[in-house]
Amino acid sequence: MRKVFIQTYGCQMNEYDTQQMLQVLATKGFERAESPDKAHLIVINSCSVREKSENKALSQLGRFAALKKQDPSKVLAFGGCVGQTEGSKLRSRYPFLDFVFGTNNYRDLPEMISEYENQWPSAEEEDVLLPRSRPEAQAQAFITITNGCDKFCSYCIVPFTRGREYSRTPEDILKEAAALTQKGVQEIMLLGQNVNSYWGKNKQGAFTSLYDLMVLFQEESEKSLKGLKRLRYTTSHPRDFDENLARAFSELPVLCEYLHLPFQSGSDSVLRKMRRFYTADTYLKKIEMVKRYRPDIALSTDIIVGFPGETRQDFEDTLRVIKEVEFDNIYAFKYSARPYTRSEAWVDDVSFDEKADRIQELIQFQRTFGAKKYKEDIGNMVEIMLEGPSKTNAEFWTGRTRKNRVVHLPTDAQFKVGELRYTKIFDATHSWLSGELIPSGIVPLQGARRSA
Ligand code: 5AD
Ligand code: SF4
Repeated sequence: MRKVFIQTYGCQMNEYDTQQMLQVLATKGFERAESPDKAHLIVINSCSVREKSENKALSQLGRFAALKKQDPSKVLAFGGCVGQTEGSKLRSRYPFLDFVFGTNNYRDLPEMISEYENQWPSAEEEDVLLPRSRPEAQAQAFITITNGCDKFCSYCIVPFTRGREYSRTPEDILKEAAALTQKGVQEIMLLGQNVNSYWGKNKQGAFTSLYDLMVLFQEESEKSLKGLKRLRYTTSHPRDFDENLARAFSELPVLCEYLHLPFQSGSDSVLRKMRRFYTADTYLKKIEMVKRYRPDIALSTDIIVGFPGETRQDFEDTLRVIKEVEFDNIYAFKYSARPYTRSEAWVDDVSFDEKADRIQELIQFQRTFGAKKYKEDIGNMVEIMLEGPSKTNAEFWTGRTRKNRVVHLPTDAQFKVGELRYTKIFDATHSWLSGELIPSGIVPLQGARRSA
């Protein structure tokens, strides 16, 4: 059997693309290899959003090159965001690469690999339509609803790696969702660089917003999407986050009460330079609005530290927003200049050490708020989706609540990945919960807080 190993970097969009590549390659007889040394074809699906992510993919390429040296019949390909913009440069810099591709042409993989056919076991030996060549049925799945971005934030390479914003049709999305729920998927994450600006045209020519699309998901969860229990989406831009989307959290039971809303900086002058088109105050007003509709919503965000010209005062404005919102989690990144962006030309004047110090300060500062939010669950009965044995301690399994909080609980021989169970939470840190299992069949009392 032909085997492929794909090493994925970056966001969920890249993970989704990897799944799509595996499906495309399955039509050519490829099955997933557990490790790169067992693969005939090795693919890197790269990310270029920050300098560090790009460097990670490139150093991995060096390690794969060593494998190829030992076994020259292995085919080595480089795809994804770095491949999209730097394709030809990569080929001349790394001559051992067999081929390079981008985010918009992975569907052509069958043609790209055709010249290596004779290096691999023949595909005809296997019936490629055997179910085992398809991805395993899983309880959680992603669906891309938009691709690309038209926002052109001054620091961001995404509009160049993913191109102009494009929305899939609602019919297409619902069809993919129905196929997934029929395979046992209970949780769907709608993906896009900015899903809030989703604007899909249906067959009749009418436009569908993200809110309209989620209403369709809710309605269909009793029909063509039977079995769908949880719906999420990411990622959002504060500018496009409107009242309908806030109301959806109180109106649509299938929509999990969790929102990732990146604010990047709490300083209005930095936000202006970032071309984000909102202020700290308008961001806070949107948070207030969503909390009005759903007071127990869990929130997370992205922050860039050390943007060109960021002063101590600007950084303190960011701390102020963190204090006001009380996020569950924050994802903080040191600014790095990226090719093609506007800010690439600006002096990267906050030193690396200063950025590192600010990140540390921010993480410390956040801990108090994270712990406060997670501790709110102590004593509650919460629904979790089981995700598998804990990586560090075989006596524990992990599950995830609707609020996206990780729960550790003692292993039970009956556990199955993807199962929805109830736990009682008895302890919490700033980033995870401890729970004990409530025997199946016992449904939380009316009035008990159903969600976490
Ligand atoms: N430098 C640092 N962080 C960045 N991000 C995007 N571009 C850059 C950059 N040039 C961060 C933003 C975004 C997240 C995915 O990555 O916070 O929300
Ligand atoms: Fe990048 Fe801004 Fe688009 Fe997000 S909204 S992908 S940060 S350009």
